[in-house]
Formats: sequence, C-alpha cells, structure tokens
Amino acid sequence: MTENLQEHYAAVATSHPERMDAFWMPFSANRQFKKHPRLLASASGMFYRTVDGREILDGTGGLWCVNAGHGRARITAAVSQQIHTMDFAPTFQMGHPLPFLLAERLAEIAPDPLKHVFFTNSGSESVDTALKIALAYHRVRGEGQRTRFIGREKGYHGVGFGGISVGGLPNNRKFFGPLLPGVDHMRHTLDIGRNAFSKGLPEHGAELADDLERIALLHDPSTIAAVIVEPISGSAGVVLPPKGYLDRLRALCTKHGILLIFDEVITGFGRVGNAFAAQRYNVVPDLITCAKGLTNGAVPMGAVFASNTIHDTFMNGPEGAIELFHGYTYSGHPLACAAALATLDVYAEENLFNKAIELGPYWEEKIHALRDLPNVIDIRNFGLIGAIELASRPGAVGARAYDVFTKCFHEKDLLIRVTGDVIALSPPLILEKSHIDRIFSTLVEVIRETS
Ligand SMILES: Cc1ncc(COP(=O)(O)O)c(C=O)c1O
Repeated sequence: MTENLQEHYAAVATSHPERMDAFWMPFSANRQFKKHPRLLASASGMFYRTVDGREILDGTGGLWCVNAGHGRARITAAVSQQIHTMDFAPTFQMGHPLPFLLAERLAEIAPDPLKHVFFTNSGSESVDTALKIALAYHRVRGEGQRTRFIGREKGYHGVGFGGISVGGLPNNRKFFGPLLPGVDHMRHTLDIGRNAFSKGLPEHGAELADDLERIALLHDPSTIAAVIVEPISGSAGVVLPPKGYLDRLRALCTKHGILLIFDEVITGFGRVGNAFAAQRYNVVPDLITCAKGLTNGAVPMGAVFASNTIHDTFMNGPEGAIELFHGYTYSGHPLACAAALATLDVYAEENLFNKAIELGPYWEEKIHALRDLPNVIDIRNFGLIGAIELASRPGAVGARAYDVFTKCFHEKDLLIRVTGDVIALSPPLILEKSHIDRIFSTLVEVIRETS
C-alpha cells in the first residue's frame, strides 16, 4: 500500500470527513454514511479488518461474491502472475488462450446443454447481454417479431436499462424514465401469509407461474422473446421459488417457444449446493447469467451461458460474418480469466459446491431458532442463504433492520446485509459451524435489543 493510500485511509476514517466527498457511493445513503463511515482495510478467510483494526465476521460474502473466502493465495498468485505476463489483450478479432480455457472449464460445470460462454464484466452486463442474445437469436432464426420480455415483480437484474426494465424493484425503476418498451411482469412469489417460516422451498405458490400463460396469451406468445427470473431473488430480500414453480415456468416457455433465462448472479458457484441452481432444482433454462462468485469477487467478471441450440443458430451465416454485434473491451480480460481459473480450482479442490448441502441442515436449524424473537415475521433459507424478515416500524420501512445492521457492525463485529426490513445472509462457503453459531447468537442479541 502506498503511503498516500495509508494517509487517505487514516484521514477519511477519522478527522477529515470532507475528504470522503469526491466518491459518489453506489446504492448508499452518501451523507449518512460519510457521517458514520464503515471502512474496511483488509480481509482474510471469513473476516474483514476495519481501518481501526477490528476483525469483522463476514456474513455476506462481501456482496454475495466471495464464496471461497477472502484473500485466497491461489487467486492472488494467479492474478499477480498474469499481470506480469500480459496485462491486456483484445478479444475482438484477436484472442489469447485464457478465455478459451476458462470457457471450456465453465462448460464442464454448467448444466447440459449450456456449453457456450460469452464473457462480460458484471452481473448487469451479463443480463443485458442475455437479453440481447435472446432478441438476436429469434431474429436470426426468422422470428424477429419476438421482441417482448417478461420479468417479475421484486426481480433484481442489475442496473443496465435492460436489467431495470425486466427488474421489479420500484426504486430502481422509477427515476429512469420509460425504460425498454414491451416488457411485462409476473407476480412475485413471496407469500408470508401462506408460507411464513418455511424451511427450504415453500409449499404454496407454484400456480403463480401461470401468470406467464396469462401474460403470454395477452400479448400473443409469438411476440415474446424471453422470460427472466432469479431462481432465488437475493436483492429483494431472499424470495424463494415455491415447490414446482420453476418447472412450471420451464414447461410454459417450452410450450410457447419462449427462452427461459435464469439470472444466477447470486445463486451460481455453490451458493445453493451445486454449481448452479438450475442443477439443484433440476430445471434447465436456455441462458444463464452469472458474475460475482465466478472470480470470488477478486476481479470484476461476468458471463452468460448459452445453450448449444442458441449458439449454433448464430453459426450458420457466411463464414466471414460477425455473428453477434456485441461485446465489451474487457470481455475475457486476462486478469479476470486468471482469477476465475484459480477460483474454479479452489472450488473443486475444497469441494465447496457441496458445502451448502453439507452445512445446509445446520444453517437451517440455527436460523429458524430465531423465529420467536421480537418483530420477526418470517425466516427463509435455502443452501447457505438465509433471510430474517422483521416487521417494519410504522412509516419507517427499513429503519429497524438498518439499526440491526449498524449495531452488528459497530458493536458486535459482524457484517450482515439488509434490504428493506429483511436481514439477508450469504456467508463465504468456507464457513464452519462455529461461524454459524456466532452469526446467529449475535443476531439473537441484537434483534432482542432492537425495538
Ligand atoms: C440476480 C442479480 N442479477 C444481476 C446483478 C447485478 O450484478 P452487478 O452488480 O455485478 O452488475 C445482481 C447483483 O447483486 C444480482 O443479484
């Protein structure tokens, strides 16, 4: 770390809050944060260390991305070696070996027949890429009238214009104009009335998938390009698919020639006990978007998996023609590829995709032990994902969970994430039972203390 950086850390953390003014923080209450900053300086294994030297247990895998834990030497070494070897190489009409190697490795762990990989730099870019591939696929095969998309209420698909159009979180949409035309939304599947405190997938709500049939018939199914859903919505506060729901969506998409896109930006790479939720739920979409755990969060990278049929449809034109007019300067960036290849090695060697199966029952037992605490109105879990939903204070949605969040961080050295009044948990998959115990005993204390 340079002297300058150290000085800056010290300054922003202590006596010169005005030095925090230049950074316009994403998805943050900037003014509130800068009055009471929470600054992290280093990380290792299950822990962050703050600028003032406190060790913080990471209950959120950074931001749902550090699945193999922090500071993995193998990833660090791979990135460091790569930057010394070749910093950048273009992938437009040029190439270098790493994205080819990485795509092959990823194809091995992807569900059949999603064996082709398009690289991006984030989940948002993966989503917009998948939407564009869907449109172009239909056009290339002579059904260019399929231009509509169907998303879902409470869906989060990143922040590109495509992603917020198919997404279903009002705050992410309302400031940004009319968005993409021709988008409709199914109802979300959160039903606390019928499913509160379900362990694992809820029993009730598979019939909500029939919204797709209704919407398809309204617009005529032949105008619909794709449906996009998260198998488990994370950002909206962990919303699980009712039993049978995803199968029903798949069947309806197949019936109407509509592509099914699973946005697996948070469910990918072991979070639910397989490489992808598609495998855990045994429902195979036509496209999968991912990011985050792909590189263990170490270097930004995203990817879209496409089925053989989709990919091969593009490969039929004149040999010298560019098949898809889409890509990013950094698609297949050498550092990201190096990080991802090393990350896949770590996942495989430590069998981390199985960790959610192994520890899932303990996690489930411990999280559901919180059900009788004050203000807890629902608890949801699947794999190594958990959510504790609190009743909102009258007229102040999110305030109670925010108090829990700040108390956990400032007083109990635990990092959790809150969205609205939902406490969402997604720890690194390297965690042990003792970490689970600490996460939940801390939450018991703090929820009890929070009026
Ligand atoms: C399901 C889903 N899609 C897309 C995104 C956007 O990813 P990014 O922030 O990398 O653009 C996220 C981020 O949390 C996500 O959870």
